[in-house]
Amino acid sequence: MNVMDGTDVMDGTDALMLTFTRALIEARHCKRAYLAKPVPRDMVAHVLRVAANAPSSRNGQPWRIAVVSGAARDALSRALCAELERGAPPAPDYANRPPVLDPIAERRAAVAGEGVLSAKGIARDDAAGRRAHQRDNMRFHGAPLEMILHLPKGAPPGHFLDAGFFLQNVMLALVACGLGSCPQFSVAGYADAIRKQLGLLPDRIVVCGLAVGYPDEAVPVNRFVPPRAELEEYVTWHDHAPPENTARE
Ligand SMILES: Cc1cc2nc3c(=O)[nH]c(=O)nc-3n(C[C@H](O)[C@H](O)[C@H](O)COP(=O)(O)O)c2cc1C
Repeated sequence: MNVMDGTDVMDGTDALMLTFTRALIEARHCKRAYLAKPVPRDMVAHVLRVAANAPSSRNGQPWRIAVVSGAARDALSRALCAELERGAPPAPDYANRPPVLDPIAERRAAVAGEGVLSAKGIARDDAAGRRAHQRDNMRFHGAPLEMILHLPKGAPPGHFLDAGFFLQNVMLALVACGLGSCPQFSVAGYADAIRKQLGLLPDRIVVCGLAVGYPDEAVPVNRFVPPRAELEEYVTWHDHAPPENTARE
């Protein structure tokens, strides 16, 4: 308990909660190698029920999630791999990045991307290795279960915010069950193939996939964690009323 984690100003129960919450949040990092061990359906149902306590605008709870395992998972993976193999240009239902990344985000993306490839033993100029990595995405990094998060077509940005809260809850609850996960925008590049495989109507948009399974912690890529920005880079503190002349009407 110390000043750095805030627990010095809390009573015992709150301090324990914060310590536990921190451990849970910090234990959630992407897992990109899994054991061939099925995930019990009851456990997944429990996780999803707990996750639905997420906040949402006016309690609309717009998230919908397809849980894909067994033969359905294999068929979905085959369809996605086929799209990749035939060189189909990715056509996601929405943009997940601006046309031009700001230089800081660009650098972070490069560090994260290179870190994953290097942990997998794939060199910068290894075209075949990079291709295999793309295929690994379509194979859900070997996870026995894939979730597909979807929203109604024309969903406003607020729905994506709501769905994000839900998805983070899912990932944290999975950690508490000894499971790992990896969100996947890559698979959403083949949204039509996903809709076809899962029987989703054209009025649904694919937000992302989530690979889920028991992580294989012996595989080095599962120990790679990209660095986080310092607090000062993303926080401003506002304690005083703004000076009169800058206050809004
Ligand atoms: C919306 C979203 C989409 C992502 N898509 C992919 C993906 O397609 N493949 C992948 O390996 N990782 C994907 N990631 C994982 C990010 O690269 C990862 O969260 C980030 O580098 C931070 O690493 P960490 O989650 O391990 O802390 C995605 C993450 C998010 C939130």
